[in-house]
Amino acid sequence: MLATLVRQLNMVRLSVGAIALLTMVGCTGLIGGDPSGLTPEETLARRMWAEKAGPVLNTSCVGCHAGQRPNTDFLIGADDLEIRARIIGFEPAVINLSAPQSSRILTKGPHEGPSLTATETSDVLEWIRAEKDAQPDPGESDPTANLETTPFTPAICTSGTPPAPTCPTNDIDLTEVGLPGAKLHFVAQALGSGLYLNQLSIIPGADGVYLEHPLFASYPADGSDAKPDQIDRFYNVKLNLMGNAPAEQLQGGTAAFVNFLATDKISVLFKIVKAYQPDTVGPGPGGVGGGGCKTVAEFKTNAAPRFQASCASCHAGANANATSAMNITGVNSPDDAMVTLACNQILTRVNLTTPDQSGVFLAADPANNNHPFRFPDAAQFNAFKNPVLIWINAEKVAP
Ligand code: HEC
Ligand code: HEC
Repeated sequence: MLATLVRQLNMVRLSVGAIALLTMVGCTGLIGGDPSGLTPEETLARRMWAEKAGPVLNTSCVGCHAGQRPNTDFLIGADDLEIRARIIGFEPAVINLSAPQSSRILTKGPHEGPSLTATETSDVLEWIRAEKDAQPDPGESDPTANLETTPFTPAICTSGTPPAPTCPTNDIDLTEVGLPGAKLHFVAQALGSGLYLNQLSIIPGADGVYLEHPLFASYPADGSDAKPDQIDRFYNVKLNLMGNAPAEQLQGGTAAFVNFLATDKISVLFKIVKAYQPDTVGPGPGGVGGGGCKTVAEFKTNAAPRFQASCASCHAGANANATSAMNITGVNSPDDAMVTLACNQILTRVNLTTPDQSGVFLAADPANNNHPFRFPDAAQFNAFKNPVLIWINAEKVAP
């Protein structure tokens, strides 16, 4: 029943978004309401195209990819939207919506045309991710899936902070929505007219958590209709946490629901919930088909220690941009499954046809001014590159 109310929220959200946008851009006449009925995800994808990917491709790549060279005219179109549709649908594919980072447009690297710089790569990647989110999710329509928690009465903190007896925490078990062992954690306080939550976070269980778009709702004691969060504040939340990872806050961890009564039951409805989703990896950029790393043993012996020593300080979570470009969390883990995930990620930045031209080398080359880290001299660069090449060459010939 809550799900049927959710539709109404799109309207609310769009008007809230439009107000925010108006204050940002002033009255430029850009805001024309939303007659086309786009989902918020689609709206965001279009904006990312217009602001992030479009400008990059139209500057660096349009000179050859709008018809000047045969079979690679993925930037042709009468207008911006047509070009966007063409590049997404282009055959052979240059955009991979199921594994954005492995998109050919990002991994192509230097050819007759230039390679994308690190910043350009991250701008275009941001757009591809938004496109991925804008795709209808096949799991969404599963009518049997229960994605709402049973309504519960939150324990209210009346004074102090946890663990004071007057300030209990709420740890809502998410097993019933398909996340065994995972919990929704928060501290609740009564507002003059409403409910205030802090420490709002998700604690993953052993399988980890992937979730999108949690929506809080209040169930009035008089039995009238459930009241969803008026501004649907978490509509763009997406969390992907590995098994037993630390708790992750939802947007700063606080939320004031002014239209909820603190004494009423609440529930949370999720758009999507599943176990942790490792970013699936498509064919290697060298065009060699299939899967991820095949030679994890060589990787562990030769490459992993080098990545750990020189790259993990940024690419294993400490620097968000670096980690989103190439996530090597777990590269040094005693758990082979974790090492394989890191290896798969690194492989998307490897050119198996011309190993020297691999992103992992180009990025850290002493001559590269676009990447925040580069080796200070050729000797140190080679001390990284040569052992990593042993692994890449093993991948290259692996069956
Ligand atoms: C000076 C001309 C030129 C420019 C500029 C150029 N390219 Fe290319 N690109 C080519 C040619 C020629 C081919 C076909 C031969 C090949 O694959 O190398 C190609 C092919 C491609 C392909 C598809 C083939 C494949 O390997 O799947 C991609 C993707 C690509 N380029 C990306 C880019 C990107 C991204 C930019 C902008 C940063 C860019 N190109 C700029 C000339 C150019
Ligand atoms: C000081 C932090 C830092 C270190 C250390 C670092 N990187 Fe990065 N790297 C970044 C950031 C930040 C980005 C994201 C792009 C951007 O925002 O400029 C990035 C992006 C990349 C990319 C993708 C972009 C591209 O140019 O294709 C690759 C590949 C990469 N790094 C490889 C490495 C390798 C290999 C090492 C270790 C030898 C390393 N990085 C060490 C910060 C770092």
